[in-house]
Amino acid sequence: MGCQMNVYDSEQMLRLLAPLNYRPTSRPDKADLIVLNTCSIREKAEHKVYSLLGRLVRMKQQRPDLIIGVGGCVAQQEGYRLFERAPHVDIVFGTFALGRLHSLVQKVEDQKKQIVDINPRRESEPLYVKEPIFTTGNATAFVTIMQGCDNFCSYCVVPYVRGREVSRNPKGILEEIEGLVENDISEVTLIGQNVNAYGQKNGHGCDFPALLEYVGDVKGLRRIRFTTSHPKDLSDRLIETFCRVDKLAPHIHLPVQSGSDRMLRRMNRGYTRDFYLKKVAKLRNVRPDIAISTDIIVGFPGEERVDFEATLDLVRKVGFDSLFLFKYSDRPNVPAAKFSNKVPEAVKVERFSTLLEIQEKFTLKKNKALVRTTQDVLVEGPGKRLPNQLTGRTPCNRIVNFPDGMARVGRIVPVRIVEAFSHSLLGQPVGRDHEEYSGEDGGISHAA
Ligand code: SAH
Ligand code: SF4
Ligand code: F3S
Repeated sequence: MGCQMNVYDSEQMLRLLAPLNYRPTSRPDKADLIVLNTCSIREKAEHKVYSLLGRLVRMKQQRPDLIIGVGGCVAQQEGYRLFERAPHVDIVFGTFALGRLHSLVQKVEDQKKQIVDINPRRESEPLYVKEPIFTTGNATAFVTIMQGCDNFCSYCVVPYVRGREVSRNPKGILEEIEGLVENDISEVTLIGQNVNAYGQKNGHGCDFPALLEYVGDVKGLRRIRFTTSHPKDLSDRLIETFCRVDKLAPHIHLPVQSGSDRMLRRMNRGYTRDFYLKKVAKLRNVRPDIAISTDIIVGFPGEERVDFEATLDLVRKVGFDSLFLFKYSDRPNVPAAKFSNKVPEAVKVERFSTLLEIQEKFTLKKNKALVRTTQDVLVEGPGKRLPNQLTGRTPCNRIVNFPDGMARVGRIVPVRIVEAFSHSLLGQPVGRDHEEYSGEDGGISHAA
């Protein structure tokens, strides 16, 4: 559950447990061990954990030897309290205990008693277990480059459940990416809660733009993405990197959260609306084709109609390629939970749908502008909509479905866009044998 960091951590869990002879299965009813890697970002995410745990009660009754573990952000937040609502859980291990999962499992196997580990002691770097890799066969992979967050936005639980920012050593990151390329990975997304703060604290002598240049030199790697960036840490040098590093895809996720200065202050975001708009202008100046996506919270405590109007205005001014919209939700221990002037649910719902409607028009318009162009699509796998379809992404991160031909997962193929929808594009591979276009250099641009 949750963000890309959890996807990455779940893979590390599989690798940690491999020496104990645990292997992944798609059949929970046959599993000896079920681990939920949880998210606490909004109330709804936390509810999801308890409803899933509810569904495991009967399984545990029928098979008392089944071990149930709860890890991730809800585990870190709740600790022992989790047993009150879910007494059938065996292990609660927080984000700090990720690297101790295998010994916790062993302890439960031996002693058959409940264990909690939310001890804030952790490795000096985000956990990375070299082998064995279970996600082979994919074209893309996430690589955690830093974890935690020092920003303490007033609504956000992340600094409390993930701790302070810690960056990985660049050498380890590069070795991991080289290993992924050897396993046929074509695209990596460098991930962290605030990737552009990478290296600021740890003294590895390598900041984020420098890391991107190193990653850009990895032989055989075709594309690089990164997420998430904080506007206040988006330096001019990083913006220029979009021109310097060829493999860097022209897309940035740059959460703005609100278009109102008053709200941005209350959110403790550390920038103004004007600052954000200037960053967007700089990005577009350096890389006119860049796609910009964002996150917005509606109904933050004290958000008045004028504040919301300012957000609508910013959304119209920027014209985002896509937008992730959230209704504000109280989280344990965060300052905003104690703020007065909470916005009623009905107002949040109304603002949510107003903004969504505006954005859908933008997204569709931007997608339609791509019809009759040819895009370099990195093939990710079978399409989800129809049989005999493949799916992949354009450099700007748009999903393209197209008829299955000779294209193989991991290749970059030129695809002519024939139809645009709100959330995807439909295309037709260019050329009789389009494989011939996907030579080692990739990234060939094709005029419309
Ligand atoms: N580190 C990233 C985002 C992490 S969480 C950043 O700083 O941008 C992903 C998104 O969840 C946030 O951008 C925010 O829009 C949303 N979010 C976080 N806490 C929230 C809360 N309490 N209620 C509603 N949305 C929230
Ligand atoms: Fe949360 Fe703010 Fe950190 Fe993002 S930057 S993880 S929103 S505290
Ligand atoms: Fe959720 Fe934790 Fe990620 S709260 S968004 S899983 S850092």
